[in-house]
Amino acid sequence: MTEKMTIMHNEHKRRRKQLMRTVGRGNIAIIASASATVRNNDVEHPYRQNSDFFYLSGFAEPDAVAVFIPGRKQGEYILFCREFDEKKALWTGKNAGLHGARTVYGADDAFPIDDLDEILPRMLENRARVYYPMGRDTEMDQRLMEWVNQLRQQSRGGVHAPVEFVSLEHLLHEMRLQKSAAEIQLMRQAAKISAQAHIRAMQTCRPGLHEYHIEAELMHEFMRSGLRFPAYPPIVAGGKNACILHYTNNADELKEGDLLLIDAGAEHQYYAADVTRTFPVSGRFSEPQRAIYQLVLDAQQAAIKKVRPGARWNEPHDTAVRVLTKGLVKLGLLRGPVPKLIKDEAYKIFYMHKTGHWLGMDVHDVGEYKAGNQWRRLEPGMVLTVEPGLYIPEPCKRVAKKWRGIGVRIEDDVLVTKNGCEVLSADVPRTIAEIEQLMQA
Ligand code: GLY
Ligand code: MN
Ligand code: MN
Repeated sequence: MTEKMTIMHNEHKRRRKQLMRTVGRGNIAIIASASATVRNNDVEHPYRQNSDFFYLSGFAEPDAVAVFIPGRKQGEYILFCREFDEKKALWTGKNAGLHGARTVYGADDAFPIDDLDEILPRMLENRARVYYPMGRDTEMDQRLMEWVNQLRQQSRGGVHAPVEFVSLEHLLHEMRLQKSAAEIQLMRQAAKISAQAHIRAMQTCRPGLHEYHIEAELMHEFMRSGLRFPAYPPIVAGGKNACILHYTNNADELKEGDLLLIDAGAEHQYYAADVTRTFPVSGRFSEPQRAIYQLVLDAQQAAIKKVRPGARWNEPHDTAVRVLTKGLVKLGLLRGPVPKLIKDEAYKIFYMHKTGHWLGMDVHDVGEYKAGNQWRRLEPGMVLTVEPGLYIPEPCKRVAKKWRGIGVRIEDDVLVTKNGCEVLSADVPRTIAEIEQLMQA
């Protein structure tokens, strides 16, 4: 076991303790692992544990259920999982088994997953409240209801069935929103390696290559650093493909005179990076490309300045919208008074998404954006993306021809710190001069 793993095991333990304090004695929390899914005959998709489950357990196998019973004498943390299977070990590698669940993953007790229906109802007996992620897994929802019904039938024997069901996610997601020092370190590494990949893409790009050639360079850089999976399918979008927000076909030829938009981030020990850069295929921006790019960059820089403790979630977005709208008027792409254009959301023709989202174990990470009906305030330890863009689709008849087909987004990962913020993905060039210099070197 590496030292890094040890750090994370301590983290998982600390999280379980925190969860148990909130759940409280007399209650129970239950969470199931992600299922393995079939890609096609005899072939499974690469397995990725459910983020909530991994956050608490560090356990990366399917067919597992974690149970938390604060104050239970025989053990508070119980893990149901696959038993060690010698035959399977030969084909697909060793699994933890019940012994591993206890000794490596810190379970107080472990049982075979096949015994779940027999054992879990007894654990539910006389618990008042069940914390459980309802509505995520139909089969598991149904089983839980069956266990509860079994207990209800025993009420004349003096057994109490649970009376309250509470969403476990709400608790967990508030915890996940606040990143610990160890989590921040992992996110820093994910962002650093993703930045290296973007630099490599800029250095390799030239007309005549295809989008997938650049995707290969990104994946090469992720993998050679030990990060085998991207946090989401990379978007490598040349020319007008950049105006398709979730373009992942990545099959077209890269043309002289076009821009290339790359939105790609690696996943590092379950933590995501999410980085976008846009640059000219041939290494030099044309005048219209330069104007749009600089405007998006100005909006991004102004938005990043708003990231600090105490700021409300919407401040970076509102700032980006203001800068973009003013700039669009200046370039003649919008006409009218800026406040009215903002109020009427006229910018949405060219900027139709929000300026960011939480970032963490999921690329669009969990956590509420509002507290009551107010946008929530940023706090140190939260991580978000800042990613304004402008997209002028080709059939857009209302704009001069020179703008058509230009799509630009610039996205960085930003940690809220005690005094302001830290841009985790700052290593990738961002200014026009820096990009042109790197590409021509
Ligand atoms: N890569 C998805 C996003 O930027 O939100
Ligand atoms: Mn992105
Ligand atoms: Mn994003």
